[in-house]
Amino acid sequence: MAKARIAVLISGRGSNMAALVYAAKQPDCPYEIILVAANDPEAAGLQFATAEGIATFAHSHKGMKRAEFDALLDAEIRRSGAEFVALAGYMRLLSPEFVGKWEGRMVNIHPSLLPKYKGLDTHARALAAGDRFAGCSVHVVTAELDDGPVLAQTEVAIMPDDTPDSLAARVLIAEHQTYSRALADFVRASAPKA
Ligand code: GRF
Repeated sequence: MAKARIAVLISGRGSNMAALVYAAKQPDCPYEIILVAANDPEAAGLQFATAEGIATFAHSHKGMKRAEFDALLDAEIRRSGAEFVALAGYMRLLSPEFVGKWEGRMVNIHPSLLPKYKGLDTHARALAAGDRFAGCSVHVVTAELDDGPVLAQTEVAIMPDDTPDSLAARVLIAEHQTYSRALADFVRASAPKA
C-alpha cells in the first residue's frame, strides 16, 4: 500500500519531527514525511529536515492575521500533496478554518496526560500538584486547544528530585516513541478500505 503523506508543523527544535522522520525510515512504517513547515524561519528543525532531504516551508507569522497566515500554510501543505498534518511543537494556535479543513486528519503531541494540564508549563504544573506520574498524549486536533480525542498516552514516573527541565527531558523520550507509533496506527486506521 502507498505510504500516507505527512506534513509536520514545527516552531523550534523539532525533536518530535525528527523522531517521526526516523520512524518513517523503517520499512514497515505506513507514512512518509514529505514536508516540514515552520512559522519561524529560524526554527532549528528546518536545518535537520533539509539535511534529511525533506522539503521545507518557512514563513514568519509576524504581522499577519491568523486566518491569513493559516491560509498560506494550508495552500503550501496542499501543494505538497500531504494527506495528514502532524503538529510537533507547533506553538501557535490554529484558526478554526484551518482546523476545519484538516478535521480528522491532523494530530498533535502534548506533554501531559490529557485531559490534565492543557496549554503551557505542563511539567511545572504536574510537579506543583504532587502528581506521581507525568507523561505525554497524542490526540486528534479539534477547535478546542489540546482537547481532541486521545489516540495514545505514555506515563512517565516523577522522581523525587525532578525539576520541570529534568522531567521534560524524560517525557520527551516518551514523546518520541509515542508519537511515531500513534501516528502509524492513526494513518492505518484512516486509510481508505480497499
Ligand atoms: C514537546 O514537548 C511537545 O510535546 C511540545 O513542545 C515540545 C516540542 O519539542 N508541544 P520538539 O520541538 O519536538 O523538540
